Amino acid sequence: MQQFVIEGGKKLSGEVKIAGAKNSALPIIAASLLTDKKVVLENIPDLIDVRTMIELIQHLGADVIFNHHVLKIHTSKIKKIDAPYDIVRKMRASYYVLGALLARVKKAKVSLPGGCAIGPRPIDLHIKGLRTLGASIEIKDGFINAHTRKLLGHEVNIEGPKGTSVGATINVMIAAAQAKGETIISPAACEPEVIDVANFLNATGFDITGQGTHRITIKGKSSATDVKYSIIPDRIEAGTFAAAAAITRSSITIQDCCPDHLTSILDKLEEIGVMVERGEDNIVVHGTRRLHATNIFVTTYPGFPTDMQAQFMALLSIVPGTSTVKETIFENRFMQALELMRMGADITIEGDTAVINGVNKLSGAYLMASDLRASAALVLAGLVAKGKTVVRRIYHLDRGYEKFETKLRRLGAKIKRQSE
Ligand code: EPZ
Repeated sequence: MQQFVIEGGKKLSGEVKIAGAKNSALPIIAASLLTDKKVVLENIPDLIDVRTMIELIQHLGADVIFNHHVLKIHTSKIKKIDAPYDIVRKMRASYYVLGALLARVKKAKVSLPGGCAIGPRPIDLHIKGLRTLGASIEIKDGFINAHTRKLLGHEVNIEGPKGTSVGATINVMIAAAQAKGETIISPAACEPEVIDVANFLNATGFDITGQGTHRITIKGKSSATDVKYSIIPDRIEAGTFAAAAAITRSSITIQDCCPDHLTSILDKLEEIGVMVERGEDNIVVHGTRRLHATNIFVTTYPGFPTDMQAQFMALLSIVPGTSTVKETIFENRFMQALELMRMGADITIEGDTAVINGVNKLSGAYLMASDLRASAALVLAGLVAKGKTVVRRIYHLDRGYEKFETKLRRLGAKIKRQSE
């Protein structure tokens, strides 16, 4: 296993380039299974999760070439219909092949993804949506066994207890692209990654409208074309670097990002006193002024994203005053709090709300990463903590951030990767 060793107290400066969005890349790679046409995807980040999804579609029959962030996929024939446990256990987003396989070959056998550190992560809404389109789905021996004679367009309601579902919206959209007739997903998730998947499907010759709103219409089409498509930048990676500038009280330029996708994050940074210049495809963040406490209410897009909650908890732990963070999407997404407290943070968890009393400084410590965004939060804390911080099990972080320590080092951080 590998770890990061960080020497805190270094200011950051310079520029960082943002990679393509993990949460666009994964469903779009799965959606490429829909047709036997040639698919070229650009701006694909080189992440563990992307390589796992590539391994899965190759298992199913795709020919794949991946280099320099360009992914060439050609699935002339689906050879297998199963997503095996040893792949799904590494990456729950494997369930995106369900919709694509049902649409392409009318059957799929996908290992049931377990929960993960941040919550039970059920997929009942995915199943409900696919059943509404005419799929017969049975859960047996830890597998989702799905088949259909023909997928038929329908009005699909996949609202869950936490509101809309990004994954279920995308899975149904992929399956409906080739269904007979019209499908309406309402309420649909409107995250930028949902829009990106819809735009990819339209570039492939399908017919989706309403993406970005809570009502998406898909008119089933059988013909498709070869496609070349460039995915959107990763708004969570960009937000993470913006938080890095704020926590180290530094000024940096974040390039190749989409400021419009970060509105709630940048607004929250400005609320605590960070200065932000929003360009066309870049942001300049000045974390240099005195910062003050705030309250964060996590919600679905365009609200403050759950994937930025941990990073802001680290930031607010050294901002004077009392801040609160309310996590409304996942049941167990405060794992970073326990590790931050070991660095001297003053955080109290009350159900779905964390109360943070800012302290003057954090002290370096040996930390254990638990999940992707919590790992990023611990690195941010290490950047500003006094002395040495060691973050173990950073494979969690490598799932969603490409060359994270290299990018931070180029900005002036003292961080290195080594074996535990
Ligand atoms: C996607 O997860 C992202 N993952 C998550 O990012 C992100 O946090 C989440 O959307 C919310 O924005 C990918 O895109 C690969 P949901 P997803 O379905 O699709 C419940 C990261 O760090 N729910 O919108 O799983 C669910 O448990 C990851 O990059 C059901 O109850 O999220 C959650 O409480 C973490 N039944 C809520 O809905 C279902 O069938 C929202 O989940 C599906 C979801």
